[in-house]
Amino acid sequence: MIDLQDLGYAITQVVHNFGSATVVGGAAFMLYMAPQPASLQRKFAWLVGFGWGTQVLSGMAFGAISHYYYGAFPDIHGIAIAALIVKMLCAMSGLAMVALYLRYADGWADRQRHVVWRILFALGATALTAAAFLRWFS
Ligand code: HEM
Repeated sequence: MIDLQDLGYAITQVVHNFGSATVVGGAAFMLYMAPQPASLQRKFAWLVGFGWGTQVLSGMAFGAISHYYYGAFPDIHGIAIAALIVKMLCAMSGLAMVALYLRYADGWADRQRHVVWRILFALGATALTAAAFLRWFS
């Protein structure tokens, strides 16, 4: 019989993993295949934005599952807490960058768009790195 708690974590992890791939891969693609038409960049901005949103929601789902089964959030300390905060800050910044892009990028030169993709890639890579520290220091 499948343990529902394990299933919940596994499904959440699948979503979270694809979200990670989207935020890092989407920004990497736009950076290294640059310059792309503005319309395609806009589509990728939406995609990467959904990726960041997915990370926030699935990250919260991890916590919700723990709370449901144990009545408390995981008891993490030190480096693990710092890594989680880094991931949350990256997610907030990533969402803000995408919102700025979608609102204002129509009038931007390719150079300015490139800067945003660089920042988005750096945020994704930082969060992915922090994820490893959260995993192994908790
Ligand atoms: C609000 C934002 C986020 C929250 C609350 C969150 C929360 C979590 C939690 C609770 C775990 C399980 C940790 C464990 O296995 O002990 C996890 C795993 C993971 N997170 Fe996040 N996360 C967030 C954002 C991100 C972002 C932005 C990325 C990558 C771009 C990311 C990548 C990962 C990866 C790859 C794992 C699996 C680590 C492993 O098991 O080796 N997370 N996250």
